[in-house]
Amino acid sequence: MGKSKLNYIDFLKKISVLQDTSISNIQSQLQISVDEIEDNVKAINAFNSYIKKDHDKLILEKEIDSLDKDYIFNNIEGNSRVIIFNEIDSTNNIMFEHINNIAPFDIVSCEMQTKGRGRLNNKWVAAPFSNLCFSFSVIVEDIKVLRGISVLAGISCTKALKRINNLDFKVKWPNDIYLNNGKFAGILSEQKRRADGKYVCVIGIGINVYNFSNSLNRKIVYLNEPNKIISRSDLLILLINELKKDIKIFMKEQLNPFIKIFNDVDYLVNKNIKVEYNNDLYEGIAKGITKTGDLILETENKRTYLSSGHIIFE
Ligand code: BTN
Repeated sequence: MGKSKLNYIDFLKKISVLQDTSISNIQSQLQISVDEIEDNVKAINAFNSYIKKDHDKLILEKEIDSLDKDYIFNNIEGNSRVIIFNEIDSTNNIMFEHINNIAPFDIVSCEMQTKGRGRLNNKWVAAPFSNLCFSFSVIVEDIKVLRGISVLAGISCTKALKRINNLDFKVKWPNDIYLNNGKFAGILSEQKRRADGKYVCVIGIGINVYNFSNSLNRKIVYLNEPNKIISRSDLLILLINELKKDIKIFMKEQLNPFIKIFNDVDYLVNKNIKVEYNNDLYEGIAKGITKTGDLILETENKRTYLSSGHIIFE
């Protein structure tokens, strides 16, 4: 059997726009053999049941909401280079692999992510077309101005999402995004110094858009379940445009203009929580954030400020 010329992600994109998905029509439209069709179906179904065969027809079992690179590029404000991969290990990793050549607000996204990384060494793996995974770059001369930027990213995304649909979006400090008490988006912000002495901050965002997992985990929420509210391309445009605008303001005024917005969407506010940070455990009532994004934790007689940490109990 010859090697398939068509990548299985492209195969899926192509058949998702065909009116007639009979094998014979796919053969002639895509100029591929029956064997190649079968190989692609097998490869894609290894992730999940994407395609069912019904007599001479292929039936799609999932919504194939692919990213439209030109549409995204044309609708992003200002100058940004956009790269969309079919399949990538991690959008954050690829940015750092090109650290010396990236420009401010370069954007990398993908249809599937195989070795995505989350905070605290967690994984963020995304099956084809199920998530929106993207990273973008912020480049600065002074690393100090980046303090609080990942908290800003969470606020900015939540603010943008609320404009499309006034659902109960919340930010769980430092930068998880919640909907109906479940996490549906996470942010991983990483910084490195490059050869010219500048600091490159890569902000990576992963959003559960469709539930392709066949499992009903009540703690995981998906943006387009049970109803589709936005396409993955429009979601990327919406978030990037908001982030660009807000990061400009943040560079001059830190989180000051965003504290009130954070207070309105603060998932932890007034809750008694425990936070693990540097092998210590802090307990208190969450009381919002400072202008540098530190969590304010109140106990009977004092306030503690935490620059990072993991909420282990709420
Ligand atoms: C978390 O909640 O722990 C953060 C998850 C961040 C995942 C995103 S997906 C795009 C970018 N690339 C990665 O490898 N990670 C981030």
